[in-house]
Amino acid sequence: MRASDPLLLHFTAHGTADPPIVVSAEGLEVIDTEGNRHLDGLSSLFCAQLGYGHKEEMAQVAREQIETLPFHTNWNTAHTGAMELAERVTALAPSNINHAYFTSGGSESVETAYKLAVQYHVANGQPERRTVIARDLAYHGVTLGALAMTGVARFKDPFGPPALSVRHVSHTNLFRSGETEEELNARLLAELEATILEEGPETVAMVIAEPLQNAGGAFTPPEGYWAGLRDICDRHGVLLVADEVITGFGRLGEWFGVQRYGAAPDMITTAKGLTAAYAPMGAVLVSDKVAEPLYREGVTLLHGITFGGHPLAAALALRSLEIFEREGVLENVRAREPELRESLEALRELPIVGDVRGAGFFWALELTPDGGEGRFDAATVHELVKRYVPQRLREARLIARPDDRGDAVLHFSPPLVSDRATLDEMVSRIGDVLADAGKHVGARRAAAVASR
Ligand SMILES: Cc1ncc(COP(=O)(O)O)c(C=O)c1O
Repeated sequence: MRASDPLLLHFTAHGTADPPIVVSAEGLEVIDTEGNRHLDGLSSLFCAQLGYGHKEEMAQVAREQIETLPFHTNWNTAHTGAMELAERVTALAPSNINHAYFTSGGSESVETAYKLAVQYHVANGQPERRTVIARDLAYHGVTLGALAMTGVARFKDPFGPPALSVRHVSHTNLFRSGETEEELNARLLAELEATILEEGPETVAMVIAEPLQNAGGAFTPPEGYWAGLRDICDRHGVLLVADEVITGFGRLGEWFGVQRYGAAPDMITTAKGLTAAYAPMGAVLVSDKVAEPLYREGVTLLHGITFGGHPLAAALALRSLEIFEREGVLENVRAREPELRESLEALRELPIVGDVRGAGFFWALELTPDGGEGRFDAATVHELVKRYVPQRLREARLIARPDDRGDAVLHFSPPLVSDRATLDEMVSRIGDVLADAGKHVGARRAAAVASR
């Protein structure tokens, strides 16, 4: 990119990047300026749950909303669209959750959950409960409060001391743990409880965790983990927040990931898939327990976001949820998951694939030397994740995400309406790209040995 380009891109190395420029989208594909069609194996960063095939219907919804009520805020006033969406979305959530607070995106949802947690503790005479416990490597957003919860050091370090008091505990990486699932679960829960005790339970406001952690590569929770989190939080008066910015709205084959893992959190943070990406919107879904103090005489909810619950976004979210039901989107994810698992597992045959993990339509493949548990050196990770694999994916016309926030992984999260043939095609393209990546790494290794 050139210094004269006016558009600054998010998380992009402007000096070297040559990103694809997209002009339109159709079905399960996005189309670039040269007319190339790329299958979207990442749902536009985990957002486009329905792909891009509902344009006319959504355009009609948008048009009707703009002609009726282009905008109204939710600051000390309400509009029917946000009210209807709050009722609809909470009806899909676990039964202890009956309130919704709308935001404009995921970071805002995460910070809103923190402020609601603090207001809850203040109202209950425990104003010293301020500390958050999050997990290593987990990504919870980048505005300063959310960034404090994010566990990726290189995103945080340049910005100095975190804005909030946050302790990070281990994530649920079974592949690297060298333990059985049972041992991992016991160790993680013991570590969490020890951390709460070390901090002083009377100072801990909340624990935040994704049902299935994205950063690091689709870390699934061990059996019993979410029940364990609930139990520990309850015993120490700590609130439990499920960050479902990615897992919410069908990605794991349930409306919310916590439903797959049998958990009842105190709050659920959402964004991305809530409108199936037809408009920017987030929501914090709030339990009766956390909301109760807000209805007490004289208590004001000290938080407001001008566009939170925008009527246009609310109308599009409502229609998206209707489409989910009409087209059996959750059923599609559940029906396709076993086949998808099988075809991704088959890629373990490639010498560069060390692990395949995930659930629903939310997967990662870990790249390792010779398919074992070793690790590539930093230069090879850089070559793979920043250069070779992105380039080959573009040539293969597939959007997926190479990532090195933890070990080297390739994220794959297709739209939830993908049919079997398209999933097979996407997985076959991943296979081609990773087969070439394995050869490329092997050739580099051989060249390095020869030059010694
Ligand atoms: C789990 C999780 N939480 C929060 C966020 C932040 O969301 P946003 O980028 O909409 O602010 C993200 C973004 O990817 C996320 O994956």
